[in-house]
Amino acid sequence: MSDKINILAIESSCDETSAAIISNGHVLSNVIATQSVHERFGGVVPELASRVHMQNIAPVVDAAIADSGIIKNEITAVAFTQAPGLIGSLIVGACFAKGFAQARNIPLIAVHHMQAHVLAHFIEANPPFPFLCLTVSGGHTQIVLCKDYLDMEVIGETIDDAAGEAFDKVAKMLGLPYPGGPLVDKNAKLGDPLAFKFPVSEMKGYDFSFSGIKTSILYFLQAQKKLDPDFIEKNVINICASAQYTIVKMLMTKLEKAAKDTGIKHIGIAGGVSANSGLRKAIQEAGVKNGWQVYIPKFEYCTDNAAMIGITGYYKFLSGQLADLSTSPSARATW
Ligand code: KG4
Ligand code: ZN
Repeated sequence: MSDKINILAIESSCDETSAAIISNGHVLSNVIATQSVHERFGGVVPELASRVHMQNIAPVVDAAIADSGIIKNEITAVAFTQAPGLIGSLIVGACFAKGFAQARNIPLIAVHHMQAHVLAHFIEANPPFPFLCLTVSGGHTQIVLCKDYLDMEVIGETIDDAAGEAFDKVAKMLGLPYPGGPLVDKNAKLGDPLAFKFPVSEMKGYDFSFSGIKTSILYFLQAQKKLDPDFIEKNVINICASAQYTIVKMLMTKLEKAAKDTGIKHIGIAGGVSANSGLRKAIQEAGVKNGWQVYIPKFEYCTDNAAMIGITGYYKFLSGQLADLSTSPSARATW
């Protein structure tokens, strides 16, 4: 047995099957199998996602253990994503984690995926509390006030689409393949962010709304295509740059307001959209302007990964928050 706390972590909430080994809070391995089967459907097909998780889970866990340099009987506990996510996908990870925990007679830890996105910051940095995190993913957009590792409060969120969804929908309208967010980002780097003006939504407090920009871009493209059928082909970089500029502006306006009102100066971004170059640049600039200490996770810890589940599992293990074997996954869950 090892004298270290070694957590085997499993993430399977959407279309990445991932496993990691975290030893005393340090990542020893983080294996991610991305499912390419969804590309031709233009979005994640839940039934297919579950089946591919089923195929991938055992080899991905084996690879994570092999890469880590530890052996199976040195694993102290198993952490898994319990919520939120696609229920069929979550069930695959949960059942595997439970089977592993029961077979080896070790503790099980249930992890909330959104809390894990925030705690991804603690893999490599150690922001002091209170810490403010903008979590932007394919399913969520939240401003989270972190008082401690496991004491977090969502102070603002989207009332409709998530920021990642907005990126993906813009990409789809432009005929770009799924997942479109990274391709909008790539095109945006070459375009003019002020070429087209899209409306910015005005929401109360720290809440967001991204359905308006999606609709306005749709109507804009329909009108322009009537005038010139090749409008998209000719303007794709400028449309991407302008859409990204508007989405990032909406995110940053609320983040700056939350930082100002709370007086917090340690600010981070997390989740898949925190891989966006426009958002990364905008938060750096806001940091210089406002005297913030800015935290941006490495790319592999921004999008879905098991390392973030493992670091969360580690803190839950330290605080004695274990799950029993009757714990079941949930597609939606607040925290
Ligand atoms: O956190 P994540 O990997 O999965 C969820 O929990 O949803 O986030 C995925 C989202 C997708 O909408 C994807 O298009 C978006 O993050 N995304 C990006 C970029 N990389 C990933 N959006 C904009 N720019 C990027 N570079
Ligand atoms: Zn995620």
